[in-house]
Amino acid sequence: MKETESSCLNEFPFLRPEMKHVSLYTLQEPLFSARLHQNEGIPLNETEKSQLSEQCANFINAHRSLNTYPSVDPTALRDAMANLYGVSPDCVEPTCGSSQGISLIAQACFDKGTAVSVVEPSFSLYKSLCLIQGSNYRSVPLRTDNFEYDMEAVLKARTSDVIILCNPNNPTGSVLPVASIAQLAASSKGLIVVDEAYIEFCPELASSVSLVSKHKNVLVLRTLSKAWGLAGLRLGALVGHADLIKVFRALKPPYSVTGLSEHLGVFALQNWQQNFAAKIAHVQAQQSKMLATLKMIPGVVMAPSRANFVCFVHPKSYDLELELRSKHNILIRVYGQKNQKDHASYGMARASVWSDDANDVFMAVAQKVLGS
Ligand SMILES: Cc1ncc(COP(=O)(O)O)c(C=O)c1O
Repeated sequence: MKETESSCLNEFPFLRPEMKHVSLYTLQEPLFSARLHQNEGIPLNETEKSQLSEQCANFINAHRSLNTYPSVDPTALRDAMANLYGVSPDCVEPTCGSSQGISLIAQACFDKGTAVSVVEPSFSLYKSLCLIQGSNYRSVPLRTDNFEYDMEAVLKARTSDVIILCNPNNPTGSVLPVASIAQLAASSKGLIVVDEAYIEFCPELASSVSLVSKHKNVLVLRTLSKAWGLAGLRLGALVGHADLIKVFRALKPPYSVTGLSEHLGVFALQNWQQNFAAKIAHVQAQQSKMLATLKMIPGVVMAPSRANFVCFVHPKSYDLELELRSKHNILIRVYGQKNQKDHASYGMARASVWSDDANDVFMAVAQKVLGS
């Protein structure tokens, strides 16, 4: 991502100086490619697609349809999410993807000079919003030997105003047990943000939503973009103590969740639960295969990768990305740059589970390019 040219700031003196940190989130992606680069859910199956088509038609033909505003408060979605996450509805605020939840946190909590600690490497939106708000960004690195959380370093950040952890982490798939998060929350006056975008892919990992009734300073982000395979609907949630959620409910712009998205999201949560475990098991099996294949390649350093993706470091990652994209129409994500060997993320790459065929091609090409 490229930051705004400083000449732009000279031309528009009314922009805040922090606008120099605003950067376009661009991804160059051919329309028909296998998408192993965005950690999305696997493509919907034919049954799911036809169910959603029918529900779209039901919504469009309903009394309250596309010509009307959605209800100000998406209560049906809130109730369905509260049921899913095992909390009371007043502890949940549905958002336009969890990205909106992150923006609301930045608006509410990232003041000028506020100390925001982020465990890194992390989802890039946290750092950009922190810089745009003029907050004081503090990096808390993962362990350099194995990319696991360094609990000592995390606990040292407890004096920060806000501490952000992704659990599992993007891009490394590192995880923290809920007991460690409870320990951090108890020892800090700051807000502890736990981003659980990928937690459904780790059924053995307990969610921090269980902490919110006891710890008013824990705020959890959830999404339907990953395991539920509904990134296009833009549905996420903030889960926290009811008193804290009230603030975010008031701050969120009205109609952030569209009526159609709410309708389809509620349908999925009410009707796809019984196939959900099987879907997760399928993704886990594919992910384990990808992990095992990469581990066998000499010179590959694996990150923990406990999610729907694999994350690894190898100097030939850039060649692998190019070959997959140009010859096989498969996209993966690489970090750093080929000519910047001293960059912290040099050689890091991430690939998420997609169709079985695309995963097989990814593994074969990885063996060829990285193993040569
Ligand atoms: C850790 C993490 N949080 C949040 C998001 C945003 O997801 P969405 O806005 O689709 O819910 C992503 C997307 O990749 C992510 O990796």
